Amino acid sequence: MPAPALHAHPHTTGRIMTSTQTSTDAPAASGAAVAPEGSPRPHVETQSGTGRHLSETPVPVIECENVDIYYGGFRAVNDVSLVYGQNEITAMIGPSGCGKSTVLRCLNRMNDLIPGARVTGRVSYHGQGIYDSDVDPIEVRRRIGMVFQKPNPFPKSIYDNIAYGPRVTGMQVESMDDLVEQALRAAALWDEVKDKLKQSAYGLSGGQQQRLCIARTIAVRPEVILMDEPCSALDPIATARIEDLMEDLRKDYTIIIVTHNMQQAARVADRTAFFTAQAAEGTGDRTGQLVEFDLTTKIFSNPADKRTEDYISGRFG
Ligand SMILES: Nc1ncnc2c1ncn2[C@@H]1O[C@H](COP(=O)(O)OP(=O)(O)OP(=O)(O)O)[C@@H](O)[C@H]1O
Ligand SMILES: [Mg+2]
Repeated sequence: MPAPALHAHPHTTGRIMTSTQTSTDAPAASGAAVAPEGSPRPHVETQSGTGRHLSETPVPVIECENVDIYYGGFRAVNDVSLVYGQNEITAMIGPSGCGKSTVLRCLNRMNDLIPGARVTGRVSYHGQGIYDSDVDPIEVRRRIGMVFQKPNPFPKSIYDNIAYGPRVTGMQVESMDDLVEQALRAAALWDEVKDKLKQSAYGLSGGQQQRLCIARTIAVRPEVILMDEPCSALDPIATARIEDLMEDLRKDYTIIIVTHNMQQAARVADRTAFFTAQAAEGTGDRTGQLVEFDLTTKIFSNPADKRTEDYISGRFG
């Protein structure tokens, strides 16, 4: 079977240009996401979601190679190499403090906003290093959006929460009303809010606010959505809605989720990365490292590493 086609969004794949570059400067770097010619991908069925057929190795959208992440002199994450697959949901799990959020934030340069934070190694998006000097971090964050643990709508109307991103990024939009509706429909919120678009987003429930934040992320047409424990502030019903939504969104987006909820990872993720923190000799600093990355079924049924097994069986963490 051929490798899956590249993502169809015209605005999303390809080079991340600085604001001074024009589209004619952009070679088809997105070709880097295609599997090498003639390399057959063995297909295996996973238990995730609807039991999708997945290639043994993911088609990379984002790739980390030997990534270390520091806060000042403290190395929070050591030597992470990991591929996030196109139109897949990848979960990152592990005990508190093992660096999941740190790794997630480095995937769209959100760590840039933390004084003293520093990334070494390579993080690439369709083959292009996102920390390269000619890359615009704002553009990186538009292509690779983020949804946070606590819903954080702006103090604006529901409509303006969605329209804000397209407006400030200068997106060419034929009809803002249509774009707002599409984003709210994609986030499974339209029916609940269509009659109160001009009301404050603060009037929504927590679960609705989180779906609004997902709609806001989608509105600027990213290719990848990062989610840091997006359901931890939600009740089981709102959580189930977000999980259903993630499965829907996977058709059009690549999703990377940090979760403490192992059932959630088992339910929604195609692949799972398990991290842990290890105390360094001498300093005692607890540095996060990737222990194991595999199909979710494998991680939860037959992990290769004892530390993974101890964690998923509740003996640790
Ligand atoms: N802004 C920061 N400044 C300094 N150190 C930080 C900062 N953010 C995180 N750290 C440290 O980096 C390490 C990893 O933290 P991180 O928040 O990535 O862990 P986590 O796996 O997401 O944990 P949790 O499951 O509790 O959210 C921890 O030792 C933490 O104290
Ligand atoms: Mg975290």
